Amino acid sequence: MTIRIEMLSPALGAEVTGIDLREPVDDAARKTVLEAWYEHHLLVFPGQVLNDADHLRACEIFGAIQPERLNPHLADDANPAVHFVSNIREDGILPHGDIVFHMDQMQYDKPSQAMSLCGIDIPSKGGETKFSNSHLAYDALPDDVKKRLEGLRAENAYLYYSPNMMRKVAAREEEAPRAIHPVIRTHPVTGRKAIYVNRLLSDRIIGMDVAESDALLGILFRQIEEDRFIYEHTWRVGDVLVWDNRSLLHARNTYDSKNERRQLRRIAIVGDVPY
Ligand SMILES: [Fe+2]
Repeated sequence: MTIRIEMLSPALGAEVTGIDLREPVDDAARKTVLEAWYEHHLLVFPGQVLNDADHLRACEIFGAIQPERLNPHLADDANPAVHFVSNIREDGILPHGDIVFHMDQMQYDKPSQAMSLCGIDIPSKGGETKFSNSHLAYDALPDDVKKRLEGLRAENAYLYYSPNMMRKVAAREEEAPRAIHPVIRTHPVTGRKAIYVNRLLSDRIIGMDVAESDALLGILFRQIEEDRFIYEHTWRVGDVLVWDNRSLLHARNTYDSKNERRQLRRIAIVGDVPY
């Protein structure tokens, strides 16, 4: 089979066909896939029928598998890295509603470098996943704003109260995992810079008073949410998505979680300390 790569939008994303993720991937195919991933940041592999083991193996193309840290009690004992985003499973996480743009796991010193979702049950409408290209958003900032951002760091916090409730919390709340990261991070492979703050997790810029920090963060939040940087993915059963969590933010549209079924398998890839 020949691997084919087709761009999904001007901002980001490519669809990859001509590969069966149930089969071992040879070095040439791995190289092709990784080059496309660093260029497009999100890869969509359509029509893949993967069990937990297949999905885990496919994710190893992109790095080492990260066991779940936030909700380890909900993980499968046999596969501690496998989680389900779902409104129909007892152990499902994030069952309801929309979620604003964010990068995952910024409350840890070493956030995952990549995330993967596999579409198992898909609602008839809603529940799309949106992605925003944080490299393009950074590149398009005015030079004076880029200059102000040099060397700044922000505190990021996240608290997951229960499988049915998620909210941003003040970083001062004791129980919230938190980490300080650069406001602008550099991709360790491509060297590109990205805006590394968002509405869901970023609480404040270190060394600024609240008003000044909120004003500067507001500029960056609006920047990463501009349509020109965004691709919206409408899910199909069998879609496997893998995105670079150092390059892209993601968000979710709401859906009718009372009447529709939604189930995605989620796997994370180990990352490094951002710089
Ligand atoms: Fe997320």
